[in-house]
Amino acid sequence: MTFTRAIKIAPSILSADFANFGAECEAIEAQGCDWVHVDVMDGHFVPNITFGPSTCAAIRKHIKGVMDVHLMIAPVDSYIDAFAASGADVITAHLEAGPHIHRTLQAIRATGAKAGLALNPGTGIDAVAHLLDMVDLVCVMTVNPGFGGQKFIQSQVDKMRALRAMIGDRPIHIEIDGGVTVETAPLVAAAGADVLVAGSAVFKGGSVANPAPYGANIRAIRAAAEAAQG
Ligand code: DX5
Ligand code: ZN
Repeated sequence: MTFTRAIKIAPSILSADFANFGAECEAIEAQGCDWVHVDVMDGHFVPNITFGPSTCAAIRKHIKGVMDVHLMIAPVDSYIDAFAASGADVITAHLEAGPHIHRTLQAIRATGAKAGLALNPGTGIDAVAHLLDMVDLVCVMTVNPGFGGQKFIQSQVDKMRALRAMIGDRPIHIEIDGGVTVETAPLVAAAGADVLVAGSAVFKGGSVANPAPYGANIRAIRAAAEAAQG
């Protein structure tokens, strides 16, 4: 993974056909996405359950590019090696998921994966200042994690701008997750985001049998973001 601030579109397979993940991953890559975003939920840290490392390992075979694994689980540390072994390129843990985020980030980097730090909408960026040398990506949640298709939380845009200033020239991605659409993509790109996760806005209107809408949706979000990127 070479670092660049170019806009990257990362479809969340939370909005894909769960019975057909392999073909869905191949379809979104063929339609021009940059990363594949994989949402892991435990029914404890968030009020929804998706899947674990064995599913990640199974879909890895169908992803040529970056597999971006977003862990919405607590505890995290005991599962890091399993997700790294599944082939994740980026492993993101939540600041709110445990008392020892510094140790968690160290453990992620020790596997060779890139380390991501996710912040819930109610969490400020102060703690990030003490972790800047530990992270490769900060994920600003623009919905409360747990479900796709929720409304974008506008107040997070100022937080992104402040985070972008804090990061400066460091090679740290800013990822936005939740409620990204053609309408909200310009706001987050202008505020400094370079990785745009989008579930419902990418998968709407398409299917494995009819993947062209995936491509049209990805191109529309990318064009809106690129036009606004500072
Ligand atoms: C929310 C997940 C997101 C979600 C995004 O907990 O982390 O990745 O699937 O879905 P949309 O783009 O539909 O808000
Ligand atoms: Zn996510």
